[in-house]
Amino acid sequence: MSTFQTLAWVKENNTLRLLDQRCLPNKESFLDCNTLSQVTEAIKTLAVRGAPAIGVAAAYGVVIGVLELLGQKQTISKGQFAEIVDKLAATRPTAVNLFWALARMETIGSAGFKNNLNGAILCNNLLKEAHLIFTEDERDHRLLGEHGAQLVPHGARILTHCNAGALACADYGTALGVIRAAHSAGKELEVFADETRPLLQGSRLTTWELLKDKIPVTLICDNMAAHCMAKGMIDLIIVGADRIAANGDSANKIGTYSVALAAKAHNLPFYIAAPTSTIDFTLTNGCKIPIEERDPDEVRFFGEKRTAPAEVKVYNPAFDVTPANLINGIITEKGVFAPNQLAQLKP
Ligand code: MRU
Repeated sequence: MSTFQTLAWVKENNTLRLLDQRCLPNKESFLDCNTLSQVTEAIKTLAVRGAPAIGVAAAYGVVIGVLELLGQKQTISKGQFAEIVDKLAATRPTAVNLFWALARMETIGSAGFKNNLNGAILCNNLLKEAHLIFTEDERDHRLLGEHGAQLVPHGARILTHCNAGALACADYGTALGVIRAAHSAGKELEVFADETRPLLQGSRLTTWELLKDKIPVTLICDNMAAHCMAKGMIDLIIVGADRIAANGDSANKIGTYSVALAAKAHNLPFYIAAPTSTIDFTLTNGCKIPIEERDPDEVRFFGEKRTAPAEVKVYNPAFDVTPANLINGIITEKGVFAPNQLAQLKP
């Protein structure tokens, strides 16, 4: 267990408790959600973020949506259930873990409607599934960490982008899970964390959680990554992913693609760390991965301060796609795979 809890189900009052990531690193405060709209808002505004964590939060969101309706009318129809799922699915388009978790919840819902289960039993079954998604997430990221740690040499200097840590999952993390596993195996290492404009997940979140675990970390601005590689300060790159196409093309936080290009130019290994639930076998390549575009003010402002003319036109894609040919390996809970070996993982 990490020294903090990203999200938890509080059974006494059927609440999803989120460590509010919008407030980090300045304040550790919790956001309690017990309505569907609180959960959808928390996902949209990045109070909870990171592909696996979004999936887990959405699973609990389904339970909350059902409980809310049962509280009002004691029953729920198939159509109302579908509406709950649709509202959660409309929160963020890129991370496939969201849709993967919702599909699991839909399977439980459909079985409940088919068997005419009463609302309380249906809800109980949905809650069990959400807990299962949570515990599998914890288990898989530890396994992923162990596989990835083999790739980390003693004394490694590792560059990462965005936050793919315990804050982005139920616990432990993907890219930071590999780093945690290598560190706890006694390997000396240092992490270089890209700041990750515009929302600063690297500087606000990655450095916060690594410092908490006493893992050495140095913060750099995004535009320093290639310079650090050229100076011989980096040995390998490990990042997370939001959606991986069947050929290995991987969507991750905007800026990842340029890190991968710089890594190739400097002959440095570039790894993606992600659970198999992040692989979308319905997409043959990365061209069709939906890329979220966010509020232009995220770019016009740096934190609270406006740093661009209010009327300037802005382009603000939240993710980019790194082509498979720039990726040395994809670290999953089932082992490490070259992009062209992903077909072996197809369910
Ligand atoms: O917009 P965010 O903060 O949700 O983006 C998160 C990322 O891009 C992460 O790198 C990715 O979800 C992997 S998290 C294990």
